[in-house]
Amino acid sequence: MEGEEDGRRISKKHVAGFAIPLVPLILILLGFPTASRGESDYRGALSKSLLYFEAQRSGRLPHDQRVAWRGNSGLTDGLEQGVDLVGGYYDAGDNIKFGLPMAFTITMLSWSLVEYRDGVAAAGELKHALEAIKWGTDYFIKAHTRPNVFWAQVGDGDTDHYCWQRPEDMTTSRQAYKIDAEHPGSEVAGETAAAMAAASMVFQGINPHYSHVLLHHAQELFAFGDEHRGKYDDSIGVAVKSYYPSVSGYADELLWAALWLHRATGREEYLDYVIRNADDLNGTTWAISEFSWDIKYAGLQILASKLLMEKGKDLQAEKKTVLEQYRSKAEHYLCSCLNMNGEDGANVHRTPAGLLFVRHWNNMQYVAGAVFLLTSQVDYILGANPAGLSYLVGHGARYPTRVHHRAASSVSYKADKSFVGCAQGYDRWYCRRGENPNVLVGALVGGPDDMDEFSDARGNHMQTEACTYNTAPMVGVFAKLGELEGRHGRTQQQKTSSYK
Ligand SMILES: *[C@@H]1O[C@H](CO)[C@@H](O)[C@H](O)[C@H]1NC(C)=O
Repeated sequence: MEGEEDGRRISKKHVAGFAIPLVPLILILLGFPTASRGESDYRGALSKSLLYFEAQRSGRLPHDQRVAWRGNSGLTDGLEQGVDLVGGYYDAGDNIKFGLPMAFTITMLSWSLVEYRDGVAAAGELKHALEAIKWGTDYFIKAHTRPNVFWAQVGDGDTDHYCWQRPEDMTTSRQAYKIDAEHPGSEVAGETAAAMAAASMVFQGINPHYSHVLLHHAQELFAFGDEHRGKYDDSIGVAVKSYYPSVSGYADELLWAALWLHRATGREEYLDYVIRNADDLNGTTWAISEFSWDIKYAGLQILASKLLMEKGKDLQAEKKTVLEQYRSKAEHYLCSCLNMNGEDGANVHRTPAGLLFVRHWNNMQYVAGAVFLLTSQVDYILGANPAGLSYLVGHGARYPTRVHHRAASSVSYKADKSFVGCAQGYDRWYCRRGENPNVLVGALVGGPDDMDEFSDARGNHMQTEACTYNTAPMVGVFAKLGELEGRHGRTQQQKTSSYK
């Protein structure tokens, strides 16, 4: 990602719980969104969203790689440090492997599968979805070299952003950065633990050995992050600070990881942690209308509500009480996204055509996170909007064609292997007027501004850059909606755009 515009807005708001029960709210949202809206083709969107993860692959590509315009890259990552860090994902339009957003991407992909596996399978996409997760978790296993050592980044933002090169040509620094007991990083340790715990649930019945390995790493990483507390961007320093600084701190990741570990292992100790630390780690005090790679409170609070819903009657009264406090904050999140919080200004802003609007920089990431948590807004993303554009690249008749992405905007390495130098890429490819030579299918770009306007220009990275964590939550959403669509027997011909 090309750097942050400003610090993320976080408001510590103590809002009384709403009377609207969460469960019916979610069911309502899941039940009705497909009724008569949008030129959707959710299953097609699901297939495309999974292709995007292949375009973001770093390392040695497998024989069944479908995105054929990409080649091998980053094959010496970690070599200088004596550790094998080949693989993983580039986060966005650049060639850096940033640990925190990569882990959040894998958590959301895994959560998509945990919740909506049947929909993914019904669309014939289970194999691809599992591969997308495993490309990340295989890398995390390599990067977690000792219980208290985790390699959290390869490449640095400054040198990378100075160049416009395909990953296959990279001449930029491939410096690797780690966290350890002396240089802690509880956000990235916690998020990676959450990702691996969630992924272990996905692989449980399919590959029990792999599932077990993931769980083992998740438990160690959580313990490391909790026992050696510290902000990861203080430890990694400038290489990450201008790109993925931790504004919300690590408390949300620790609670989030513990709750995922409770789900994955069924062990009480992890739930006890979530209950015991609810207040100290702000899990039940912060009501935040944003869910993102940095801020997991809303996801945590919804996960806690789900636990209360499923296991509430078997829980001790004290635990139940705390989970109810989590639920009241989850309701605040849902209501603020639905603009049901009344006149106190706690509602998420909307564009004139109704898209949730959090901020100018890569707004779609917040929409995608919200969509996963409340499954609406999807048709806007897919084209039912004033610009008449699908913000999911490659989907529908019109979509962004100048995505801010080094590899997609340059000629494919497969088509032309002649080396493109660091600055040469800017002259030859970045500054071109024309469309990108490669379509970054399945990428969800930053999206329109607060007036529903969008400018399809490569230099407009606030709007035209796509990030892996934008698409990841959509995988689950498309799967669920595709399933509902199938059940309702709707066909392409019956659908018309609701936005005229
Ligand atoms: C919890 O929130 C308070 C008040 O906003 C803040 O000062 C504190 O650092 C937070 N605690 C943690 C562990 O993040």
